Amino acid sequence: MSNTIVIGMQWGDEGKGKDVDILTEEADVVVRYQGGGNAGHTVVIGGKKYALHLIPSGILRKGTLNIIGNNVVVNPFRLLEEIKDLQNSGIEVTPKNLRISDRSHLTLEYHELLDSAGGKGIGVTGRGIGPTYFSKVSRSFPTGIRFCDLYYPELLKDKVTENVNFTNHMLSFYDANASMCSSRNILEQLLGIKDDILPFVEPDIGSLILAHDGSLLYEGAQGTLLDVDAGTYPYVTSSNPTIGGAFTGTLVHPHFHNIIGILKAYTTRVGNGPFPTELEDEVGERLRRRGVEFGTTTGRQRRCGWLDLFAAAYSIRVNGINKISLTKLDVLGEEDAIEVCFGYSRDGGKMIHFPTYIDRCKPMYVELPGWKRDISGARKPKELPKNAREYIDYIQKFLGVQIVRVGVGPGREQTIEFQ
Ligand code: IMP
Repeated sequence: MSNTIVIGMQWGDEGKGKDVDILTEEADVVVRYQGGGNAGHTVVIGGKKYALHLIPSGILRKGTLNIIGNNVVVNPFRLLEEIKDLQNSGIEVTPKNLRISDRSHLTLEYHELLDSAGGKGIGVTGRGIGPTYFSKVSRSFPTGIRFCDLYYPELLKDKVTENVNFTNHMLSFYDANASMCSSRNILEQLLGIKDDILPFVEPDIGSLILAHDGSLLYEGAQGTLLDVDAGTYPYVTSSNPTIGGAFTGTLVHPHFHNIIGILKAYTTRVGNGPFPTELEDEVGERLRRRGVEFGTTTGRQRRCGWLDLFAAAYSIRVNGINKISLTKLDVLGEEDAIEVCFGYSRDGGKMIHFPTYIDRCKPMYVELPGWKRDISGARKPKELPKNAREYIDYIQKFLGVQIVRVGVGPGREQTIEFQ
């Protein structure tokens, strides 16, 4: 029996959903610990595609308990929609298999409006993430609203009014002609869904988690380089997708036997911010097309580039990653040669540490031969072409962490185990 955490090693979209789906087979409980509706985990089962934003991927397996931790910010209306969509696809979602911490903060319409008004510079998803964490952390400028507040309509009314007044000031700061939001509407809507949502609300997720110690799966959203502390600030999200976020995000401290880093065989990034290995040419275009690199949440095109092992090594250090799952290797199958970044230079000198600002860094590359073959049908290591195996070996040796699984397509079965 073991506890596992799955963490993105890049800027998100590494393909964590598929790994989580495979790993849930062994888990009694799947936990989300940070982020919110900005996340988008796509899982393909039997040719059917499920896009999850707030609900842990364990929901797709019968008998698994799914927990949304206290540091996940949740738009309750979007959550109910996600629940309904899953139910309409025949997936069981009930208060028995989905629990939400009563400390989780609510993302409401005014957070999304503020995000769209003020977050353009970093290219946010527009899901109200930054403003929700802002009201959480600011505590009284105005105060955040938590699921537990739904039990107290009078308190809720005061808090919604305070938040809406604040937001309307801010909205007119960004745009004098901005349309304002109405506290009465928001309150009415919230009271309207309260009875649907409260059965899912849990006062003590910690006990539920610890009751299944030894069979836990923690599902990180986003990735290390989007972490508000570890990442490429300010082009980051507002939470900690890194391992520390798992503890503050659930208020218990299980021992993780498997700290699995998910590493895509190349790099992508959505939104703005520095990206040293970005390819703005036909190779980048090909990776985007072959890898279907369009955001699950926003539909935006993802920027594509070569694999950055300097960043991956940093990610291993930040998270204590002890196993790697390499995803989407098949996407590289049309390249004659593949570049891999092993370091950065700046102003003519080689960087020793992954720097705080990577804006002016230039990637240093080694070139490896491509395999020019469709590998999506391979199921065993020996079914891979020699050059593909050498690519995997190079990554493994450079990072000094075992690659345990390689993805060669979106389907659950398109996976090669390297044990
Ligand atoms: P926010 O999380 O919506 O505030 O967006 C901040 C930055 O993180 C933007 O560049 C987003 O594109 C990026 N981001 C947020 N969530 C994800 C994700 O799940 N995958 C990839 N990028 C994300």
